[in-house]
Amino acid sequence: MQLGLIHHVGYVVADLDAEIPVYRDRLGMDVGVREVMPDQGVEAVMLGNGPSYIELIAPVADDTGVARFLAKRGPGMHHVAFAVPHLESTLRELADSGVELIDSAPRRGLGGHMVAFLHPRSTGGVLTELVEAH
Ligand code: CO
Repeated sequence: MQLGLIHHVGYVVADLDAEIPVYRDRLGMDVGVREVMPDQGVEAVMLGNGPSYIELIAPVADDTGVARFLAKRGPGMHHVAFAVPHLESTLRELADSGVELIDSAPRRGLGGHMVAFLHPRSTGGVLTELVEAH
């Protein structure tokens, strides 16, 4: 099993509308898909010109992991996402090799990508996401 390129780095912020101009106007990044993901209690937007992106994430509910992250640590880097060609088989392989998964099955992420998170206990303290991307 082999990870692909870094697909995106996730940053937690308090307010997407306050942060987007920083990346768009000062850093010249394209603004991509933006959507509320109610199951996670967040709104997220993808920024950048590829092949790697920045994903800004803001909580829209108080009782979520991202809201707790923001309250406890303030805005900042939240996770790193790697592209993999076949997410389901990659998750199976990782689980078999003892990697602790947060998502044992792929679920829908920003922009309709299928994603899954690995537990930071298994990945050097860094929350790691896998994105199915070909
Ligand atoms: Co992400």
